[in-house]
Amino acid sequence: MVSYKELGLVNSRELFKKAIDGQYAIPAFNFNNMEQLQAIIQACVEDNSPVILQVSSGARKYANQTILRYLAQGAVEYAKELGKNIPIVLHLDHGDTFELCKSCIEYGFSSVMIDGSHHPYDENVELTRKVVEYAHQYDVTVEGELGVLAGIEDAVVAEHHTYTQPEEVEDFVAKTGVDSLAISIGTSHGANKFKPEQCTRNAEGVLIPPPLRFDILDEVEKRIPGFPIVLHGASSVPQDQVAIINQYGGKLKDAIGIPEDELRRAAKSAVCKINIDSDGRLAMTAAIRETMALHPEWFDPRQYLGPARENLKELYKHKLVSVLGSAGKA
Ligand code: G3H
Ligand code: 13P
Ligand code: ZN
Repeated sequence: MVSYKELGLVNSRELFKKAIDGQYAIPAFNFNNMEQLQAIIQACVEDNSPVILQVSSGARKYANQTILRYLAQGAVEYAKELGKNIPIVLHLDHGDTFELCKSCIEYGFSSVMIDGSHHPYDENVELTRKVVEYAHQYDVTVEGELGVLAGIEDAVVAEHHTYTQPEEVEDFVAKTGVDSLAISIGTSHGANKFKPEQCTRNAEGVLIPPPLRFDILDEVEKRIPGFPIVLHGASSVPQDQVAIINQYGGKLKDAIGIPEDELRRAAKSAVCKINIDSDGRLAMTAAIRETMALHPEWFDPRQYLGPARENLKELYKHKLVSVLGSAGKA
C-alpha cells in the first residue's frame, strides 16, 4: 500500500471548495500515456492551474497500475522541476466495483469515482456508501453519480439521457457521504454527442446542439447548496481538429460536442470538476495524422508524438484559460 500523500498528491476536497467560491472548475483530464501526462503538466504549470489526472479502468489496464503510480509521482516531481508545485489529484474515473476502488487507493490514488448510476437507486446508495467508508479511512475523496449520460459510459451504451432527478440528491448525499456528485444534464461521452437531427443550424450553417438542462442543475444546487457537482462528457469536439483528422485520411462523421459557452456557464456554478477526454484524443490524432501524411519518410515515434504532445498542450491551455477559468488558481 502506498499513500497518495507519499507521492505528493492531494485529494480533491480543498480544490473543490476554492473552485466553488471562485466560480471556476478544476480540469479533469484523462490520460493513459506519457505524452498526454507531459502535455497536461506543462499546460497546468504554465497557466498555474490545479489539475485532476484521471484514469479510467480501461486506461489502468492499458498503462499498468504500477507504472501509473510512478507516472503520477513523476508528474508531481516534473511540475516542481518546471517551477510550480501545483496541486495534483490522481483520480479513478468511472470505477465500477468496490474492489477496483480499493485497489486504486492501495496504489496511490487520492480520489475515486464509484459509478453506481446504472444500478437501481438503493444499490447505488449501498455500493457508494461502502466505497466512501473505505476511502475516508485514508482521506481519499469519493465521487458518486446519479443519472445516466447518453453515449458510452462505463461500458454501458445508453441511447438516451436519464437526467438526474433533483429530488434524489439530498438523500443520496446524506446516505452515502460522498464528497462530490456527477449529474446528468444533457452532456454525453465520446465525440458523437448528438445526432445532427437533434441539432439546429445557425445562420452560418453550423450545427447547434440542444442546450444543457441548466434548470436541473439549478434545482440540484437549491437542494444541496455549495455541494461539489461534476460534469462528465464535457468535450467540445473542436471542429478544426475534426477537419484535420478527416483531411488526412480519418473518417469521423457527425462529430458534435458541448459548446464552450455552456461549459463556461456551468463552471461558474457549483460545477467544480469538468471531465475532458475525447478532445485530447482528437488533438492527438489530428497531429499524428497530419505529421505522418506530411512526412511519410519519418518513422521515429518522437517525430509524430512530439507534435501530438504540443497540440495537446495548446488544447489544454485553451481549456484552462478560456473554458474552465482555472488558470492562475493553483
Ligand atoms: O468516460 C469515459 C472516459 O472517456 C474514459 O474512456 O474507458 O475508453 O478509457 P475509456
Ligand atoms: P468526453 O468524452 O466528453 O471527453 O467525457 C469524458 C468523461 O466524462 C470522462 O469521465
Ligand atoms: Zn465520464
